[in-house]
Amino acid sequence: MAPAEGFEAIRGRVAKAARILVLGGAGMSAESGVPTFRGARDGLWARFDPGALATPEAWAADPALVWAWYLWRMALVRRACPHAGHRALAEAARLRPLELVTQNVDDLHERAGSTGVVHLHGELFAHRCADCARPHAEVAIPAPGAVPQRLEPPRCAHCGGRVRPGVVWFGEPLPEAAFDAARRMAAACDLMLVVGTSGLVQPAAGLPLLARRAGACLVEVNPEPGGLSPHMDFSLRMTAAEALPALLGGTRDARASGRPRLAFPGVAP
Ligand code: OAD
Repeated sequence: MAPAEGFEAIRGRVAKAARILVLGGAGMSAESGVPTFRGARDGLWARFDPGALATPEAWAADPALVWAWYLWRMALVRRACPHAGHRALAEAARLRPLELVTQNVDDLHERAGSTGVVHLHGELFAHRCADCARPHAEVAIPAPGAVPQRLEPPRCAHCGGRVRPGVVWFGEPLPEAAFDAARRMAAACDLMLVVGTSGLVQPAAGLPLLARRAGACLVEVNPEPGGLSPHMDFSLRMTAAEALPALLGGTRDARASGRPRLAFPGVAP
């Protein structure tokens, strides 16, 4: 955090922002019980080899291993619930211009009520055929402890190809429309909240720098410093569930209750 700037000063900057973009990473879902990737003890990449599970080569070599691992991750996410940070973002976006770009493949923002979330790395539940790319809707998800080590993926009803998880693997391009939208949003925002990402994976980690070049203020929410910290205007060493309701809480809509309304410059009450 900049030396003279306290939480209230940062909150003031957030309150005054005309257009906020939130860039999220795995830390955004950590307090819902979904493991991050690079956490030292419980991070997925401390326990599993990404090269054997999250690349096109891994899929070609052992689709049953890859499918079972993603089914386990689907099971973890199904069991998880959005936390106060997810809810604060959904609520704030109903009241002011606030957009969400996430590297996460879970659906916790959507379950908290957010709409139009840009998923840079795909979506865990958007399965598709690995051959013809048609969507595949139905997958039975067991409890996390009941997922086998290997499981043959379902077959596509149209072409018989294997159904793959709807995520982006290392070495694959990002979904073009999602990345274009994210770049446009980054260039147009005047404040970016960078929440729960280590900032080590490109091209997502380039978005805050793009926003900064376009004049945006960068605010990091992360208990630990990371790759993007040196570029931040402010770093809040807090968790997502602590910081987001506190930062955006003034956005609470008082209209329904008839109580006095908080006003934000540039945002119609
Ligand atoms: P990482 O696991 O690399 O980083 C998670 C970040 O969240 C770290 O900086 C933590 O300090 C922070 N963190 C942990 N708990 C938090 C909390 N409660 N609140 C806020 N922050 C917290 O995850 P990502 O940066 O999202 O890609 O990783 C980027 C990409 O690398 C992922 O999308 C995934 C991964 O490999 C693919 O699988 C393609």
